[in-house]
Amino acid sequence: MNSIRGKWALITGATSGFGHATAERFAQAGCNLIITGRRTEKLEAFEHVLNEKYGVKVLAYCFDVRNLNQCVEMANDLASREIVPDILVNNAGLASGKDKIHEGLIGDWEKMIDTNVKGLLYITRSILPMMVARNDGHVINIGSVAGHIVYPEGNVYNATKFAVKALNEAINLDLAGTNVRCCSIDPGAAETEFSKVRFHGDEDKAQKVYEGFKPLQAEDIADIIFYVATSPPHVNITNLVVYPTAQRSAYVLHREVKKEEE
Ligand SMILES: NC(=O)c1ccc[n+]([C@@H]2O[C@H](COP(=O)([O-])OP(=O)(O)OC[C@H]3O[C@@H](n4cnc5c(N)ncnc54)[C@H](OP(=O)(O)O)[C@@H]3O)[C@@H](O)[C@H]2O)c1
Repeated sequence: MNSIRGKWALITGATSGFGHATAERFAQAGCNLIITGRRTEKLEAFEHVLNEKYGVKVLAYCFDVRNLNQCVEMANDLASREIVPDILVNNAGLASGKDKIHEGLIGDWEKMIDTNVKGLLYITRSILPMMVARNDGHVINIGSVAGHIVYPEGNVYNATKFAVKALNEAINLDLAGTNVRCCSIDPGAAETEFSKVRFHGDEDKAQKVYEGFKPLQAEDIADIIFYVATSPPHVNITNLVVYPTAQRSAYVLHREVKKEEE
């Protein structure tokens, strides 16, 4: 195992879900953290908790990954502190809407493309040169099984995650000859704020997504990210697909149906 104690991990989208659980998992192992997100209060409260509970160094940057200038500002600030992230978890992302393509909202599409694809690129372009210059680092992209198979009404979300898959492969090719590693972790159905965001805050619709089966939990993904990040330096896990046991593909999800009361 490759210890991450005393290293620096940059995790985008750490205010909830996978990013939040991963930051906590890394802090438990003594890793210093750079956490980001747009919700200031959540981010600052979490910064305080990580620092108090685990005694690790924490830097919090509140910004939108869709804003290139703010991504660059964060990278410049890190450079001015002489901090090169050892691990970058490109996690910030979302699904917005679930509609047939001819009924989709352009605003939803722009949000997903700008966050999941362009945001990931902005962060990567800002941070990766520092890793390459040091000839050491690990980029962990959060893709999705939605980037392996298209499902009805997934259209633009699917397209963004197919793009993440392509970029993950491309980053790996372009890093050949360096010690910088790159992995895409691609989860199936996981219970986070993801569905609430997808259905524009509709809690009932969001809850239905997880009815009748045990979905992946944020901590499951955090454990997997931790495993990848702590693999020995000569080991490059390039892609990892994980489903809940009840789900075997985007099309096969076994739900226990409640028996009707007699
Ligand atoms: N849950 C699933 O079933 C599932 C399955 C496969 C893949 N994924 C992927 O996993 C990643 C994390 O999702 P999650 O399930 O953990 O959902 P989540 O609980 O909604 O967390 C998403 C995180 O991304 C941040 N974020 C979203 N848009 C952002 C923006 N424009 N700028 C900065 N931060 C932004 C959010 O923070 P703020 O709101 O504070 O900005 C939040 O911290 C996403 O890339 C998602 O596509 C999820």
